[in-house]
Parts: sequence; C-alpha cells; structure tokens
Amino acid sequence: MEKVVVSLGRKSYPIYINWDLFYLLGEEISSCEKVAVITNPEVKMLYGEKVKEAFKKTDIEVIFFEVPEGEEQKSLKSANRLYSQLAKNNFLRYHPIITLGGGVIGDLGGFVASTYMRGVPFIQVPTTLLAQVDSSVGGKVAVNHPRGKNLIGTFYQPKFVLISLLTLKSLPYFYFKTGIAEVIKYGFLAGEDFLSFLEKNLEKVIKCDREVILKVVKECCEIKARITEEDELDLSGKRAILNYGHTIGHALETISEYKELQHGEAISLGMVVESWISHKLGYISKDVVERQISLLSRVGLPTSLPSLSVDKVLSQITLDKKAKVDKPIFALLKGVGNPSIQEVPQKIIIESLKEIIKV
Ligand code: NAD
Ligand code: GLY
Repeated sequence: MEKVVVSLGRKSYPIYINWDLFYLLGEEISSCEKVAVITNPEVKMLYGEKVKEAFKKTDIEVIFFEVPEGEEQKSLKSANRLYSQLAKNNFLRYHPIITLGGGVIGDLGGFVASTYMRGVPFIQVPTTLLAQVDSSVGGKVAVNHPRGKNLIGTFYQPKFVLISLLTLKSLPYFYFKTGIAEVIKYGFLAGEDFLSFLEKNLEKVIKCDREVILKVVKECCEIKARITEEDELDLSGKRAILNYGHTIGHALETISEYKELQHGEAISLGMVVESWISHKLGYISKDVVERQISLLSRVGLPTSLPSLSVDKVLSQITLDKKAKVDKPIFALLKGVGNPSIQEVPQKIIIESLKEIIKV
C-alpha cells in the first residue's frame, strides 16, 4: 500500500492507495454506531457490497444514501434532500460521511459533510481516475448554482482518502480519458521525470496496468498534496497553477453548452491552446507544445477542431471568475515543471486559438 500525507497541521490526513483497499474502512473507522455512505445507484451496485463487507466485523451500521447520477445533482436541492435524510436517520455530529463515487459525489457529499451540523467527519472513496488524482484531494467541496459551477462551496479536508484502483476497471473509457487529461497536465506541471515516465508508459496507463497506475496515481496525489499544503485556500496563486488548460477548456466547454465536448476533451484542447500561448510568449519551445499534442493524441483526446468561434471563446474567458477583462490571467508553462500565473494580451490568445483550427 502507498500512503501520501497532506500536511495541514491539525487538518493533516493520509491518502491510502492500492489495488483493493475497501477493507481499510472497517479498520480506520471506529467509535461510532453508524456511517452514511453517499453514492449513486451505479456505483452502489458495483461497490456497495465491498463497503458493507468492510464493516462486517464491526458493530457499525452502514446506511446508503443514493443520489441520481449526473452533474446536475451537484445542487443545493440535492444537498437539502441529503440533510433531510441524514436528520431523519438521526445522524449526529460524530457520525462519519463516506463519499463513494466520482467527483460529483465527492463534491456534493463533501459539501454536505462540511455543513451538516457544522461539519461531520468525512472520508473520500473516489472511484473515477479524475476523482482519485484531483477532486478527492485538497478539500474543495461545492455545489453548482444557476449562475456558476461550484459557486457555493467550502474548503473541508477529509479525515482520509481511500483509493482502490480496481474501481478503474469498471470505469467507461469515456470517463477514464478525462482523468488521463489531468494526469498529463500534472506531467507538464511537475517536471521532466514524471513527464518522461508518462511518455514511456502511456499505453500501460490506458490499460490500467497495476504497477503503472499505482505509481501514476500516487505521483499525482503527491503533486496535488504539495500544492494544497502551499496554498490550501487558493489565495496565493500557487494552487491556481492547477488551472493549466482550464481557462480555455472551460470556455470551450461552456460555448459548446456541455454537449459537443466532454470535460476531458475540452481540457485537452485547452492545454494545447495554453501551451501555444506559452510558446508565443517565448516561454517554451515548440517541441514542448508538440510533446503535449503527441501525448494527448495517444490517449484519443482531441488536439484540434475543424472550426471555432474565436470571438465566442474570448467573451467567455472574460466572464471566467479568474479573469481580468482586458488581460485575462492564465496558468502557463515557463518550461516543463515550471508553471506560472500570467496576464496574456488578447492578440496572443487569438493567435493561439487559431493554432487548433485544422480543417
Ligand atoms: P462523475 O462523478 O460524474 O463520474 C462520471 C461517471 O462515472 C458517472 O456516471 C458515475 O456514475 C460513473 N462512475 C464513477 N465511478 C465508476 C466506476 N468505478 N465504474 C463505473 N462507473 C463509475 O465525474 P468525475 O469526472 O469523476 O467528476 C467530475 C466532477 O468533479 C465535476 O463536478 C467537477 O466540478 C468536479 N471536480 C472537482 C474538483 C475539486 O477539487 N473538488 C476537481 C476537479 C473536478
Ligand atoms: N482542481 C483545482 C483545485 O483543487 O484547486
């Protein structure tokens, strides 16, 4: 078993990673009569029994609370329904909440855990690659609001994160790809060693080779843990480097109205555009742009579009909550392993967007 610690003083916590770690739930959780497991019907069907099995030797009662699947469930309405169900089942301040699922369940269940009775113990059991390498680590929990994604949220660190990599075997490739886009992002943020490892072992990552995926998930958790330690509340700009590829990516996702482009696909295109911006500002060589395009293509992620409304992307970027109107702010690369937050002139953004239009 691998263990990564997120060191945040009294809020420090371990991330346990191995092929099958469900049993650890029953060993790590004690002194309570019951636990709430927030999940969705599909994930419960796949892994609910494993969670129950983990508590078999204990006197702890396991109560499942199911939320239908989908991003639209990350809402105050769903949170409210969960508060009612928890209260109806007499859940008190010391009864833990376990979130079993992808980023939607982790964000929603974590938000409920952070607010129900002013905060109850919370354990993340992420079951998608994106949740394992990103959303379950770092304590950002939130629900969406009609005016914006993740608009209502808190910073609430879990007691521990339990990653069983076997869950990735049932994950459709469509969702797995989104996680790989984030893994590739970490490669460019972290440095040459991890990036070269990914270049050599990408096919094994895609096949979910046990040894390789263990190393990759551990490395990503280490990177996110160190960034979280430096800037837990996203104030100094250090945590904002995780947005590499996301400013353009979110804009593309929004203008495609979340239909034409899946999240991972939008982030892939966003990373390509933002690497072009980094290149055009003289920070990185064209070789780095091409290395990134090559990795993303090998995964089956898009790196170009047949057409694109540059104007629509530009106006969407200026609506982004992190942007300034005249000179939007981007997380860019000043080299492999050297990310930096920079203002970018519109002219460079336009030229870089045009680079991904390939008829
Ligand atoms: P998701 O939670 O919607 O899961 C994707 C799909 O996979 C769902 O249909 C789910 O039922 C299914 N699924 C989950 N685990 C499975 C498994 N092991 N086998 C088969 N199917 C499985 O999507 P996601 O990509 O995990 O998360 C996206 C969410 O994460 C977004 O809401 C995003 O805002 C959030 N996010 C949060 C942070 C953060 O720091 N808190 C970071 C990045 C993303
Ligand atoms: N996913 C961005 C962050 O955790 O800060």
